[in-house]
Order: sequence, then structure tokens, then C-alpha cells
Amino acid sequence: MKSAYRTLRVACMLVSAIAPLAAAALGPVEATLTVTQEAAGPRIEPTIYGQFVEHLGSGVYGGLWVGPDSKIPNTRGWRNDVTAALRKLKVPVVRWPGGCFADDYDWRDGIGDPAKRPVRVNKNWGNVLENNSVGTHEFMDFSEMLGADVYLAGNMGSMPPRAMAQWLEYMTSDSQSTLAQERRRNGRDKPWKVKYFGIGNESWGCGGSMRPEYAANVHRQYATFLRAPVTRVASGDGEGNDEVTEVMMARAQGSMDALSLHYYTVPNGWDHKGAATGFDALGWAKMLQTAMGMEGRIARTSQIMDKHDPQKRVALFVDEWGTWHDAEPGTNGAFLYQQNTLRDAMVAALTFDIFHRHTERVKMANIAQMVNVLQAMVLTDGDKMLLTPTYHLFDMYQPFQGATPLKTTLQTPNYRQGDIVLPAVDVSVARGVDGATYIALVNLDPQHPARVQTNLSQPAKGRILSATAMDAHNSFDHPATVLPTPYTAALVGGRLTLDLPPKSIVVVAVPSQAIQK
Ligand code: AHR
Repeated sequence: MKSAYRTLRVACMLVSAIAPLAAAALGPVEATLTVTQEAAGPRIEPTIYGQFVEHLGSGVYGGLWVGPDSKIPNTRGWRNDVTAALRKLKVPVVRWPGGCFADDYDWRDGIGDPAKRPVRVNKNWGNVLENNSVGTHEFMDFSEMLGADVYLAGNMGSMPPRAMAQWLEYMTSDSQSTLAQERRRNGRDKPWKVKYFGIGNESWGCGGSMRPEYAANVHRQYATFLRAPVTRVASGDGEGNDEVTEVMMARAQGSMDALSLHYYTVPNGWDHKGAATGFDALGWAKMLQTAMGMEGRIARTSQIMDKHDPQKRVALFVDEWGTWHDAEPGTNGAFLYQQNTLRDAMVAALTFDIFHRHTERVKMANIAQMVNVLQAMVLTDGDKMLLTPTYHLFDMYQPFQGATPLKTTLQTPNYRQGDIVLPAVDVSVARGVDGATYIALVNLDPQHPARVQTNLSQPAKGRILSATAMDAHNSFDHPATVLPTPYTAALVGGRLTLDLPPKSIVVVAVPSQAIQK
């Protein structure tokens, strides 16, 4: 999609051809960034920094929830260490309880006296027992502790529409209805605010194996009974199948406020995902190339949505995204527990840069998942906790929450690995809510430094995330191997110039008056 909004990225073929040689002999490859003061699109909704929590492996039990009687310090059952770390990220919204789990979930299992809640088998994720000690009241308490909005995924696959509607009434009704009274008896007087409600999940797969036409009809049926004011999210594509987007928009757009998209970074297919650590230079490049495929997926999905909804009333929610590697050796494969390296942080940076270029349609995104599952912010082991490189990337990108993307032009050489050709540098520039201009720069090349000369005339300060090894990561023994460090960029010839070491991510703030036309 060519849009006036988008950052122009001009690959300089000449520079590209001589880049490896030049880098070895002459120092960094060179890129040029021109920043304007003109908005490139609507603001970056803070909700694109959303997260996802599913009853899967130790994503809830152990990772977030230890129960009020645990020796691990907790507040009403929620781990204090993990909650405090997440609070620092200003998580805007959390999606729960799944994923695939949601379409097997009966909300009634998770209310009332915890000791009397039914025990079910979690059939999607390893057939482990689910005792439902985390249910609606507990999750709502957690989201209030985080200060996050909730995005609940309702069961469209295996429960009737009446059950979905009753869950919403139970949570949000201020009336004297039997359901509202039941909520009060269970300890919550005031109704909760439920801002976002997902009508099913992956309706084409674990959410009911529905064909697009059927899914559109079923969506309309369920949406009819969700009468409380709530943003209704329809289950969209997750397999690169445009027909799902096409049919959902053609047949059901009147019954939705947002359509979901799932995009996982899995370079070699589901059967050959590869390890989270110990990869080679090709494994690095393929991962980044696949992550950048998000751009095309969003562009294509937006194009179809534009055809049916030129006013852009229906938002696109990328409510599952992130890297999906082989599970860590020695762990239960169904728990999707994986390490998280500098490469994962690069994927997150490139993905946010893409979201920033599509703010006209992408209004929410939820990384999969928050703790101990897939591309997690936090990993835990008993009472120990570590923050992943992805956590630090989310932290560095915080100023982009609510910022306005600015039109920029980036001229960058290419980075090549085997047959893979990618821009060496990626960028995102936005005017923050505090008025400063924030620049995020990614040097994708793991071997060559890059120098980015800008048209700005003031030095800038910020933070850098980098490491010596491509698979550098934090472990429980060495939790500070990958950490952001302070970064300063000076003027060279009167122009702000940023030196990017190989495989690095930099975010700096520039006072707004420094921007030249
Ligand atoms: O995030 C893990 C799983 O991936 C989710 O449960 C499902 O929606 C997707 O296939």
C-alpha cells in the first residue's frame, strides 16, 4: 500500500552494493533521515502496546498468579514482583482468557467460592487440570492493579450466544438483575468497565473450524445479543487467508467495531520453527524478514477493509503477534515456554515501527503473551523472575504511546544475508504527548555499524539496546545480560547524527524546536 502517511524508505542500491566492503574497510554504512513536522497519520493508540494473557502453561498459574496463601509475595494472589514490573510498562490493555482457551471456556466456572469451582481439563494446552482459581473477579482485580483496560475473549465456539451475553451482563450491569446481584454476592458491588469484547477467537481454527461465510453469520448472531456498550471485535484472519477478511467485512461489518488479525513470526513453518537461542546469521536474518512481513499482511488486510469500509469505521486489532520458537528443551512442549533474545526485541521494534506506519487502521495490538508463554515480557522460575529483552524494548518504546507519527524520509543501504535483502536501518519518528520528538532507529545488520545523519540540529539523548551475541538473553543466573543503557547522539557538521552499533535499537528524544523544515 502506498500512502502519503508512510515513511519513505529509499534503498540506495549503489551503497548497498559496496556496503559490506565499505563497512569493513571504512567504518559504518551511512543512512540519511529527514524528519518533518507534518503528521503522517492519526495518533499511535496506546492500545497497540497491549498484551495477552491466556490460561496456557505458566502464563497465569505460577507466572502471574500464585494464590493468596503462597510464600511468594503477592497481593490477593497476584505476584508482587511481576505485577510491579508490568506496571512500569503502563500496559494499556490486557486480552484474556485466550486464545484457544477462550472458545473452550465457560465463564461460570470462574466465579463464586474458589474452593467450589469446577476442575476442567485444559484440552488446548497439554490436558492439564484447570481449577479455575483465576476467574472473572480475579482477572478484573489484576487489570485494576495494572491500570489496564480489559479485552475479554468470549466463547463463540462452544457456548450459546445467551452465555456470552450473560457474562457481559454479569460484569457490567448496574441493575438489580439476578446476574448483577450474583456479582454483588460474589464480592463486587460496582459494575466493571469492559471496554473491548472479542466475539470468539480464530473461528477458522480452534474457535470452531468455521468456514468464512458461516463464521460471519455466527458472528452476527452472537453480536446481536451483546447489548451493553462495548467494542465488539470479530475474529479475523490468522493464516494469511484474505478470504476471511473479505467475507467478514462483506457480510458482518455492521455487527463489529473491530476485526482481529493474528500474525506470528515463524520463519520456517510450524514444523521447523527453530530454537530461540543458538541460531546463526541466516536464522537472524530470516526472523527479521518474517517479522517485516507484518507490513504486507496489514497493508493487504487494510486494502480489503478499505474496499468495504472506506470511512475506516472498523478498526484492525492485531490481537496476537510475536515470535513463536520451539519450546525450551526440557519443558512441556504444550506450554510454549521459550527464551527471549536480542533478536526477539528486534522483532518487537520492527513490528511497532510497522504499527506506527498504519495508525489509520491499526488501533490495538496484543503481544503473545505477557509471562512465560511465547514472546514474553517476563519469565519466572519459582520465586525468581527475569525481564526479557522484549520487556526492555516495550519500556524504551513507551513514549510512542499516544504520540503522533511524523512524515519522514529514510535513505538506507541494504543489509544482505544469503538471498535475504533487508533495509539496514528501520525508523519510527513521532511527536510525543510531551511535545518532544521521539526517534526510534533499528540497525538490523548484526555485523556492520550504521551512521544515520538527520536534518535535526540538536543533540539527543535516550537509550540503546544491544549486545555482543545475536542470541544474547537474560537468564535467572545472569538477568542483566541485555539491558538498555544510556545513549547520546551529538551533532556532526551541525546535524544530529546517530551512530548505531551492529544489531542495536536506539530511542532518543529531541526537543521539538530542533526540527528544521
Ligand atoms: O497464543 C497461543 C495461541 O495461538 C492462541 O491460543 C491461539 O489463538 C493462537 O493460535
